[in-house]
Amino acid sequence: MFKLIRKIEDLNSWHASNSKAIGLVPTMGNLHVGHLSLVNKSLNENSVTLVTIFVNPKQFGPNEDFAEYPRTLERDCELLKEELDKFSGKELVVFAPASTDEIYPDGFSTIISVNGISEILCGADRPGHFDGVTTVVHRLFNISKASTAYFGQKDYQQVKVIQRMVLDMGLQIDIKTLPISRDEDGLARSSRNQYLTTEARQMALTLPKTLSQIEKLLTSDSWLNSGVEINKILETSLSDKRWNYLEIKDANNLNEVTPNTNKVVILGAFKVDKTRLIDNRLVKINYA
Ligand code: PAJ
Repeated sequence: MFKLIRKIEDLNSWHASNSKAIGLVPTMGNLHVGHLSLVNKSLNENSVTLVTIFVNPKQFGPNEDFAEYPRTLERDCELLKEELDKFSGKELVVFAPASTDEIYPDGFSTIISVNGISEILCGADRPGHFDGVTTVVHRLFNISKASTAYFGQKDYQQVKVIQRMVLDMGLQIDIKTLPISRDEDGLARSSRNQYLTTEARQMALTLPKTLSQIEKLLTSDSWLNSGVEINKILETSLSDKRWNYLEIKDANNLNEVTPNTNKVVILGAFKVDKTRLIDNRLVKINYA
């Protein structure tokens, strides 16, 4: 069964008649195969899946693409129905607030802010971005009454910030992270890829290619032995202004790598024209 809900009031009425555990997939819409992989997982694991579609103004900076962000609700619903059709006896509810007021009613004054981890990497380039994310995600967790929420590894720092919030606030929700879905040329799928011209897309491939290069060095040699080559790549890349950052961090908490780190994440943000793209790779390291 498929249902589209546009108002909090109607979402609450629906809750009153639902007794099943809910899997939540929060999105900003303009769905692609990456989003649908999360929906597929939730449909697999839950009788009821709630997909939220809301372009959250609080997570966009003043000079970012909030106004241009693609809004394609009708097509999104079609894609979700197709996904639902792959299952039988499942329920999929789309909550796409009809207006921003549904999420942020008049007088809304609360900010959920996770210190430290929100201020590095993407948070350093986009001040306030993660406060916007955690504020909306906390609210979505509450209004959805979900027991599990599905996120993509594509936005690695986002997942880490949300996991921290869940832990700190003792939220009763299980966070699941799913692998990055990529196009055939290796570019991670993103609603923002459509801003790229053919030429810009070629440039954008610098991002996954560089991450793969570092990943290869780390998997084929020890942390110490691969260090010199990796530092060369980092130095050359960072002299190119299109890189917002390119860093290797402890995958657990995004802290600096220490001798206790066994898994690292290579994270990059690369800007082509006005389009800012992010990507990452998880790698187990060895010190031998
Ligand atoms: P959005 O960019 O629409 O992404 C929604 C979810 O889809 C996120 O969990 C994201 O990591 C995941 N996703 C995006 N591209 C993916 C890909 N190529 N492979 C796998 N998963 C992918 O992230 C947001 O929206 C917002 O910040 C949100 C959490 C909804 C809060 O507003």
